[in-house]
Amino acid sequence: MKCFAALDIGSTKIACMIGCHEEGSLRVLGKGVAPALGMRKGTIVHIDATVQGIQQAVREAEKAAGVSVDTVIAGISGSHIQSFNSTGIVAIRDKEVVYDDVRRVLEAARAVAIPVDRETIHMLPQEYLINDQGGIRDPLGMSGVRLEAKVHIVTGSTAVAQNIIKCANKAGLHVAEVCLASLASAQSLCHDEKELGVVLIDIGGSTTDIVIFKEGAIIHTAIIPIGGSHITNDIALGLRTPIAEAEKMKCLHGCALTSLIGFDEMVEVPGVGGRRAQALSRRSLADIIEPRLEELILMVGREIDKTHMRHVLSAGIVMTGGSSLVYALPELAEFTLEMPVKRVDASPELSTVLGLLRTRYDREQKKVHQKNTVSDRLTRSVSAWMRDLF
Ligand SMILES: Nc1ncnc2c1ncn2[C@@H]1O[C@H](COP(=O)(O)OP(=O)(O)OP(=O)(O)O)[C@@H](O)[C@H]1O
Ligand SMILES: [Mg+2]
Repeated sequence: MKCFAALDIGSTKIACMIGCHEEGSLRVLGKGVAPALGMRKGTIVHIDATVQGIQQAVREAEKAAGVSVDTVIAGISGSHIQSFNSTGIVAIRDKEVVYDDVRRVLEAARAVAIPVDRETIHMLPQEYLINDQGGIRDPLGMSGVRLEAKVHIVTGSTAVAQNIIKCANKAGLHVAEVCLASLASAQSLCHDEKELGVVLIDIGGSTTDIVIFKEGAIIHTAIIPIGGSHITNDIALGLRTPIAEAEKMKCLHGCALTSLIGFDEMVEVPGVGGRRAQALSRRSLADIIEPRLEELILMVGREIDKTHMRHVLSAGIVMTGGSSLVYALPELAEFTLEMPVKRVDASPELSTVLGLLRTRYDREQKKVHQKNTVSDRLTRSVSAWMRDLF
């Protein structure tokens, strides 16, 4: 039985998921979650604590799955991630597009100055144009003289990527590939949503990751350095309660829309350092949460507006990540951005690790189908970023 494993080192938790190929599809065998004690603001600040967290999450997943794993796909996120659109143009050598033309045009699109301390994590083709005729998704075999590629390039700090790989290696794992976490979360979107136009927002512990699709292609990605920890800190400060209690209150009684709560609903606030607990109206708690989330949603709106397509993203917004669970957050976003909003159905905090597993599975399945074909030889012979293309 061939198994696949995924590792998501988030800012609050490390998750591992193991799956296998069964009856033509991916079956999840087990998952494990450990606290991310070596992380601060989405980057690794303590190697040993992170290694221990990885080992704990992997052991738990292995136990549940009944198999052991040695290779993972790992997610990468954080405010060091930058992305932009680029274009490449080449002459078609033999009047008909072959793999080599596609490789050359993508190399041309990639030939933009990237600082030495950064690396390309993904190069995602949006469309190809042949002799100025656009909208082409697969140019192979098409006739013409001039091939143009429009791509979305995601880059990240080499040091951050290396630290992820280093921690996984120290935990006894080989990292087969590194994948942008939000791109993995976007696996929870369906084909139609991506075609119609959709905004995926993954609201995690310290960042909110955005991916925007239109006509099946990624047109924009962004990372906003605000997540659930900021809300927890606001509550702890505002109510003078310990962080752990603020976290509990947020999850149990938090609400993103003050207007939904009656004036007579009361909750208990535990005191710091042995001080007495106090009663508080649930509305006051929402008064702390709502402005922070409204600010975040407005920032998401500004990212959406960068695409100049807000009104044609017909599938609206899909929310995921642990912080999407704040009560009434979809309603607040719907009201603020005037777009339809839905939250993913099950375990939004595991969307990334599940998406990573699917990405790995899809990649392996493609390899099986393409074995010994030209594209296989090509993908084996070129750099990692080319994996996204075939
Ligand atoms: N029921 C809930 N209500 C409100 N917030 C919640 C709930 N459950 C989890 N959260 C919040 O979700 C956040 C963690 O989400 P998630 O697990 O997606 O983050 P992460 O992947 O560790 O972080 P990041 O993606 O930012 O690196 C925490 O801030 C936590 O407080
Ligand atoms: Mg996350």
